[in-house]
Amino acid sequence: MKVVAFEEFGAAGNLKLVDRPMPACGPDEVVIKTAAVSVNPVDVKTRQGEALASQLEHALPLVLGWDIAGEVVAVGRNVQNLSEGDDVFGMILFPKPPNGYAQYVAAPADELALIPAGVSYEAAAASTLAALTAWQAFTHFGQIKAGDRVLIHAASGGVGHFAVQMAKHLGAYVIATSSAKNKAFVESLGADEHIDYKAVRFEDEIGDIDFCLETQGGAQFQRSVSVMRDGGTIINLPSGLVDSDREAAERKGLFVNYFMHVFPSGENMREIAAMLGDGTLVPHISERYTLEETAEAHEHIESGRTVGKVVITL
Ligand SMILES: NC(=O)c1ccc[n+]([C@@H]2O[C@H](COP(=O)([O-])OP(=O)(O)OC[C@H]3O[C@@H](n4cnc5c(N)ncnc54)[C@H](OP(=O)(O)O)[C@@H]3O)[C@@H](O)[C@H]2O)c1
Repeated sequence: MKVVAFEEFGAAGNLKLVDRPMPACGPDEVVIKTAAVSVNPVDVKTRQGEALASQLEHALPLVLGWDIAGEVVAVGRNVQNLSEGDDVFGMILFPKPPNGYAQYVAAPADELALIPAGVSYEAAAASTLAALTAWQAFTHFGQIKAGDRVLIHAASGGVGHFAVQMAKHLGAYVIATSSAKNKAFVESLGADEHIDYKAVRFEDEIGDIDFCLETQGGAQFQRSVSVMRDGGTIINLPSGLVDSDREAAERKGLFVNYFMHVFPSGENMREIAAMLGDGTLVPHISERYTLEETAEAHEHIESGRTVGKVVITL
């Protein structure tokens, strides 16, 4: 079968289409004929030698691809809940080597959910790591309550565009940031207020925030702290905060997750499946690539300008 692997960390050009044997099916796994895979910033940072690179170095040449959707073609002997022919999706094996940029992939059955009727493989693959991140930020690492004033940064991106829809579903009042060119898109997701982060400083416009999804971290983190109400919650996604960031949050008595770690969960995937099935959640796919074009998909994410999700279709 064909897979996209890289032998060394570095540029997107290191991603090469190569042959690999078909995956074996472990007792708790299913083998999936991959129909679509989505790409995330963590794929790009890891391929560049950052993020999970040091953890995954032992597995070089490495095949990334945590976000998969496809049809079950083999079922391990302990697996009760899935059968051959089922259409499934999930974020598999994160943060271990996933082997998902491939025509076939072996995946733990308990990290998958059935794709609801009427939802495409592409839409399902798009609604995995990014959707899980937003859902776990709002329901596991923090708790959004109805009526909360929620600030979502990078609302036009992979995580943010799911986060806006989910926060509205949970009854929040949503204030969302992106540049002006994505204002209409962000408002179409249900945001109550939009802030163009290039035109104004968001801390000059808003305050009394109950919950912030901080997608940028770094120098922006303390600006987000400044708009929080005392005792509010910040879930920070990128790594790299420093002591003064923690001190600023502690002075305000905030509950903060300084570096959230999304984790695979069949239960959360079934909750996302239900939201896809009833139309609560609609993924936006802005770019589609083939497996042969995986390097281009990475370069698009690397631009930092992705709207919604980038999907590889097999
Ligand atoms: N810790 C975890 O478990 C976890 C999980 C998922 C993601 N993450 C991290 O979270 C971050 C976001 O991920 P993602 O998949 O959503 O990224 P993404 O899809 O690549 O985000 C791109 C979007 O960010 C917007 N943007 C860029 N700079 C901005 C700024 N300063 N203010 C507001 N919007 C801005 C862009 O809109 P404009 O073009 O309009 O600027 C673009 O639409 C990444 O660093 C990722 O690695 C962490």
